[in-house]
Amino acid sequence: MKRALLTRFAHGVLLAACALTLAACGREESSTSGAAFTPTPEQVARGRYLTRAADCAACHTAKDGAPFAGGAPLASPYGTFYGSNITPDKDHGIGNWSADDFYAALHDGNARGKRLYPSMPYTSYRQLSRADTDAIYAYLMTVKPVAVANQANDLKFPYSLRFGMALWDMVFLKDALPDASAGQSADWQRGRYLANALGHCAECHTPRNVFGQLVDAKPLSGAALGRVVATDITPAGLAGRGWTAADLQTFFSVGIAPQGSAFGEMYPVVHLSTQYLNKDDVRALSVYLLGDTPPAPQPVKAVDADAAQLAAGRSVYLAVCAGCHGLAGEGKPHVAVPMNGNSTVRQADPHNLLVAMLDGIDTQKFAGLEDMQAMPAFASTLSDDELSQLANYLRATWGGQSANVVAADVKALR
Ligand code: HEC
Ligand code: HEC
Ligand code: HEC
Repeated sequence: MKRALLTRFAHGVLLAACALTLAACGREESSTSGAAFTPTPEQVARGRYLTRAADCAACHTAKDGAPFAGGAPLASPYGTFYGSNITPDKDHGIGNWSADDFYAALHDGNARGKRLYPSMPYTSYRQLSRADTDAIYAYLMTVKPVAVANQANDLKFPYSLRFGMALWDMVFLKDALPDASAGQSADWQRGRYLANALGHCAECHTPRNVFGQLVDAKPLSGAALGRVVATDITPAGLAGRGWTAADLQTFFSVGIAPQGSAFGEMYPVVHLSTQYLNKDDVRALSVYLLGDTPPAPQPVKAVDADAAQLAAGRSVYLAVCAGCHGLAGEGKPHVAVPMNGNSTVRQADPHNLLVAMLDGIDTQKFAGLEDMQAMPAFASTLSDDELSQLANYLRATWGGQSANVVAADVKALR
């Protein structure tokens, strides 16, 4: 799931690992023992909420594994990372860690003297307040200790040289992330903290450069992840695809909005994290994304396109898609999302549209009673020509995008 997030900093690991000498004289490593820590029940309850808002489970709970016992494989072309056991088991987890140790891991990527890879998103968690990391620590100390040994990362040389990370940190670790929107209100401030620190949205939605660090000049402007691209979620990007604050709130709370459903790497974000945010926080997140003065949502533009090509695309649509997505792309409640005005169809880059058609989407559970069936994969039943005609029909009719997809675009994604 998190494959892409991991591959994107791997270049940085390379840089760091190559500079062995420099790295060796990196920052002082320290492991503090810390004073006795006596959490209050309020702190534990708050910690549980924050642990969800920060989506620790996405990487630290393996499929069918015990909560926070680690072992979730995070594959990348550079090798596989494994989320660690962060239950309070004294041998295998963090049972012997102090609150200071825990803070150093989240704030500095320093796990009791061991340099963490930024597969653990401390680049974002660095902005968490000490009170909040203490609350997360307090909560994690109450979960069931699980005696499961950590699985060693299986990384190729030179990425396996962990101490190279000290240099990466020295060069790239920043105290704050830039904002994509403007605002000052209390909601905007809270939303900024939810997005930049807890929700670590930038880790997927901000592009990275060759050394794997986030590009400061382009916050949240979209980034190639793995199979599914993380979309532009700047105010202009969102409004350009018809998003309003109210619809964003529905998307984060349920996972399905009039603009479509969460899929790919965004699905676990909603499923494990944002659906548990309270109303105030969901509102704050939407205010932060769109800014205090949100741009008006753009209607779908009329587009000129070749009539014969559209007719070809429409006949494929009627034959294989309309049964679920509706004759007029209106969708069907509890069956399939609308195509008319769908934000995936409205993206200028057809990547996610083509990937959704080629790969399909497995059955996903959404909040409340909302449920959808699986979206079938069409890679083996539709040709490159049919899929490009279909993509052009959808883009020109319901997406306000030009019909410029060619068969080679489809082929490249097979
Ligand atoms: C995107 C995936 C991801 C998320 C989200 C994530 N982690 Fe991690 N975490 C990792 C990986 C991978 C490692 C191991 C990194 C390494 O080997 O350097 C790790 C390591 C750690 C460690 C060090 C454990 C040890 O024994 O060295 C701690 C503590 C930790 N994470 C806590 C958390 C907490 C708390 C959260 C939520 C606030 C969180 N992580 C969220 C991926 C993640
Ligand atoms: C069996 C019903 C079904 C058929 C047939 C079907 N889809 Fe879907 N489609 C869905 C469902 C359900 C989703 C949402 C899945 C989810 O997010 O869990 C979806 C999602 C999508 C998405 C992603 C957008 C979003 O917001 O989730 C696109 C694009 C899409 N379908 C296009 C098509 C096209 C084009 C066809 C015809 C080639 C097609 N679908 C055929 C059920 C179907
Ligand atoms: C692990 C990677 C990852 C993280 C972390 C992540 N996203 Fe996403 N996000 C994606 C991907 C991939 C998509 C495209 C698929 C889709 O539309 O569901 C997406 C889509 C979205 C969309 C829908 C955009 C559209 O027009 O369809 C919104 C809104 C969004 N993300 C907001 C956020 C916010 C806010 C956060 C932080 C709380 C966040 N994301 C964290 C990967 C991620």
